[in-house]
Amino acid sequence: MDKLLIRGGTPLNGEVRISGAKNAALPILAATLLADSKCFISNVPHLQDITTMMALLGRMGVELVVDEKMNIEINSSQVHTCIAPYELVKTMRASILVLGPLLARFGEAHVSLPGGCAIGARPVNLHIKGLEAMGATIEVENGYISAKAPRLHGARLCMELVTVTGTENLMMAAALADGETIIENAAREPEVVDLARLLISMGAEVEGAGTDTIRIVGKPTLSGARHEVLPDRIESGTFLVAAAITGGKVKLRDTDPHLLDAVLAKLKETGAKITIGDNWIELDMEGRRPKAVDIHTAPYPAFPTDMQAQFSALNAVADGVATLRETIFENRFMHAQELQRMGANIQIEGNTAVIRGMKQLQAAPVMATDLRASASLVLAALVAQGETLVDRIYHIDRGYERIEEKLTQLGADIRRIRE
Ligand code: EPZ
Repeated sequence: MDKLLIRGGTPLNGEVRISGAKNAALPILAATLLADSKCFISNVPHLQDITTMMALLGRMGVELVVDEKMNIEINSSQVHTCIAPYELVKTMRASILVLGPLLARFGEAHVSLPGGCAIGARPVNLHIKGLEAMGATIEVENGYISAKAPRLHGARLCMELVTVTGTENLMMAAALADGETIIENAAREPEVVDLARLLISMGAEVEGAGTDTIRIVGKPTLSGARHEVLPDRIESGTFLVAAAITGGKVKLRDTDPHLLDAVLAKLKETGAKITIGDNWIELDMEGRRPKAVDIHTAPYPAFPTDMQAQFSALNAVADGVATLRETIFENRFMHAQELQRMGANIQIEGNTAVIRGMKQLQAAPVMATDLRASASLVLAALVAQGETLVDRIYHIDRGYERIEEKLTQLGADIRRIRE
């Protein structure tokens, strides 16, 4: 298992390019199952999760041609199997995103039930409930979701909870269903909006993406389309925290500052100087120690749960005491015990962490447990005294493209140890 060896203490400085958003590319790749001709998807990040999704589509008979820049030509006209097998789904729970499109296009789907993961049970009951309301017959047995629907019909769906992939699955199913679907209490994340943009360019009728009510009128068929994946707002936020935690100055290119207003507001509260342009963000910490900031995660446009672990690392060395409330997932403080091994002063009480900032963290051997927790350990290591060894970094490779190369470009002392 690869490891990252990081020597802390260098303020980051320089420019880095932000990759396409993993959490937009995954539903967008799944949506190509809906098209009866070729799709061309660009700005796809080169990540393990993307490779897994492409393998999953390939197993179904989708033809994929990928160039060296990860521009992907996708043809789903020859799909012969509507199965998402356990051995692939267990490595990437976002495989559930093929359920809606398979059902809508081919009338059947057999998708392994994605188990829980480190951060929570993560049920998919709301995906299933919505598809049943649209006329699907769904059995969950032997660890598989078996769904059948000769023809889905539109429905009025009031989501009990805001679910990002649940909203995305139901949007894709509705795009080929018979009639109108209204999704109320829909997720408003930018990745949902990016998926809607693709569906519309495929000929779908979708209104209201980005609000809590989305209206879709189904079409008999959808055609292929060209689409450029939007920038990754969580990768952007992670690199901005890296600049803030090390007291440095970093400029992000090929990003979109309007995708992470809540994160930028919190970074300003830490004392960071932030300037933005159409497709760039610059953070200058001017060598100062960050001030502690309270965090309360909630669905977009509020502060994203995917940035909580990164701000835990920042607060671990900030000036003051911070309270972080995690309201989306029930177990998303796995990074805390690893940060404590580096000397962080963190008290967990239920879904709340109280962090008293230390002037200095100590390097230590630590272990990544999930994607964003691994990012927080890397951030802490960038500012810890000494050399930190981060183990199980396959977690980080799922969501960050070439992270050690990008951090090295910014002056970090980091290298990958292949084992
Ligand atoms: C998406 O996961 C993201 N993944 C997650 O990013 C992100 O943390 C999460 O949204 C919240 O923003 C992708 O987009 C691929 P949810 P998703 O359904 O859709 C409960 C990362 O780090 N729920 O919005 O799985 C659920 O348990 C990953 O890139 C149900 O109870 O999250 C959770 O408490 C981690 N039943 C809450 O809703 C359901 O049927 C929100 O989950 C669905 C969800």
